[in-house]
Amino acid sequence: MEKSHSTLDRTKFNRWLNIRKTTLKELNRKLKDKLNFNISFNNCETVDDYAISLISDCLDISPSKITKINLVPTFILKTKEEIEDTKRPITKDGIHFYNYYTLPTPSGYVAPVLLDIMCPKNKLPKLNNGHLEPAITISMGPNDIYARFTEKLNKESWIKFEVNKNKKTNWIVGSSYFEPSFCRHSYSRVDSGLGRIISYTTKSNIESLLNDKLNDNSFENLAKANKGKKINRTLLKMEMESKGYSILEIAKKIKLSLKKLKKFFNNSKSVLDKKYIIKICQIINSDPNLFLDKKQKEDSVGKLYFDYRESIKSIRKYKSYQVASIANSKRFPDLSGYFMKVDNKKNIFLNDLFDSKCSHYFVTGGKIKIHINSKNKKITKNLKNGDCLWISAFTHHGFTGSGSLLKISDGQNISYLDKEDLTNTYNINGVLNRVRGDMQNWGYDEK
Ligand SMILES: [Fe+2]
Repeated sequence: MEKSHSTLDRTKFNRWLNIRKTTLKELNRKLKDKLNFNISFNNCETVDDYAISLISDCLDISPSKITKINLVPTFILKTKEEIEDTKRPITKDGIHFYNYYTLPTPSGYVAPVLLDIMCPKNKLPKLNNGHLEPAITISMGPNDIYARFTEKLNKESWIKFEVNKNKKTNWIVGSSYFEPSFCRHSYSRVDSGLGRIISYTTKSNIESLLNDKLNDNSFENLAKANKGKKINRTLLKMEMESKGYSILEIAKKIKLSLKKLKKFFNNSKSVLDKKYIIKICQIINSDPNLFLDKKQKEDSVGKLYFDYRESIKSIRKYKSYQVASIANSKRFPDLSGYFMKVDNKKNIFLNDLFDSKCSHYFVTGGKIKIHINSKNKKITKNLKNGDCLWISAFTHHGFTGSGSLLKISDGQNISYLDKEDLTNTYNINGVLNRVRGDMQNWGYDEK
C-alpha cells in the first residue's frame, strides 16, 4: 500500500511566512545544510514530509498549520441499508443494552447516532456517566421508551419519552430534549416493543480550551478563580483588570458603592441592574453581551425537555414545507432543528433552503427528492424512509415529493463563535474576497 503523506498548502505557507515576518529567502538560508534544493511557491506543494517538518520547525508551528486538509464535501448521503451496516450491539449492566448506528458525517466530525433501546421494561436502566459534548435527543419510535437521568428518580429524572401516535400529525415523530455537558442518561423500554432514539451529539466548543490550550497551572487557577461564582462575572472582573482598571476605579466611575460591586463579583446570588454592566463595558471598551447574566430554560438535571405536543403547537408554514420545532437551548445555540413535512408533487428542481449551519436530514416517512446545487452542478437524489443526508452550510437545496424529515443542525461546519468573529471583522466583504488563495507577502521588498 502506498504511504499517504501530507501536501503543503502554499496559501497557508505564505500566511505563516507573513505571520512570522520572515521570507522564503531567509527560510532557504536556514535550511541550506538540510535540503539540497531551494523552496519556492512553485515547488512547495510537491515537497515531502521531511521538508514539511523542517519548514514547520523553522516557523515554530505544527505541520498541520501549513498542510492541505480535505475540505468537507457538499453533502454525504447514506441509505437506510448503509446505516444498518454500521449496527453494533453494546452490552451494559450484563445485558444487550443498545444497538448503535452511525449517521453520515464528514471525517473528523462528532457523528450523531441512532440507537435501538434494548433494556427491557422490568429493568431500571443503568445510568451512563454523561459526556462533555452537548446533544439533542429525539424519541423516534415506533414505541415510547423511558428516559432516566439521576440515581434517585423523580418526575424530571424518570420520564416517559413519548412518540406521537396520531396519524394526522405523526410527521412530528416524538418528544425531544436538549442535554447539557455531563448530564447522565439512560433508556429502557416501556413495553416489549422496540423504541429508538436519535442522539444528536455534537462537538463541544470548550473541549480544546479545557484539554489543550490551558496548561495545568492556568486550568487550576481558572477553576479556583470561579469556584462558587458565575463565570460571566469572573471573566468581566478579569477583563477589567487585564485592561488596567481596579474594582475601586470602576465603582467610582459607574457611581456604585465598592461594597455592592465586590458583592456582585463574589456572591453569585447578588443582583445588579444590567445598566451597570453596560456602563462598565463602555468604560473598558468590551462587548457587554459576553458578560450579562443569562437566564436559561432548564430543569433540575439541566436538560430542556420539549414534549411532542409542544412541537405540534408550533406547526407553521415555512417556504414550501410545514415545519415544527424540536428542543433547543440558548446554552448551545448551534444545536437546533425541526420536523419537516414535504408535500410538493411538482417535477421541479427546487432550491428554497439555504442555511448558515450544516445539517442532517433523516427521512421519517414517504418518498422525497432532494435537490442540491453544488458549484452550479444540479444534483437530485431520491430518498426513502430511514435514509439520512448530511449537507454543508451555505448550500442551496430543497425537497419535493411527499414525506417527512427530521432536520438537525450543529456548529461543526461553522459555529456561532465563528459568526461572532465574522460580525466583528472589519470590512468582512473585502476579507472574504481576498483570503482564499491570498499570496501577497507582508510587504517587504522581494529583490
Ligand atoms: Fe449520550
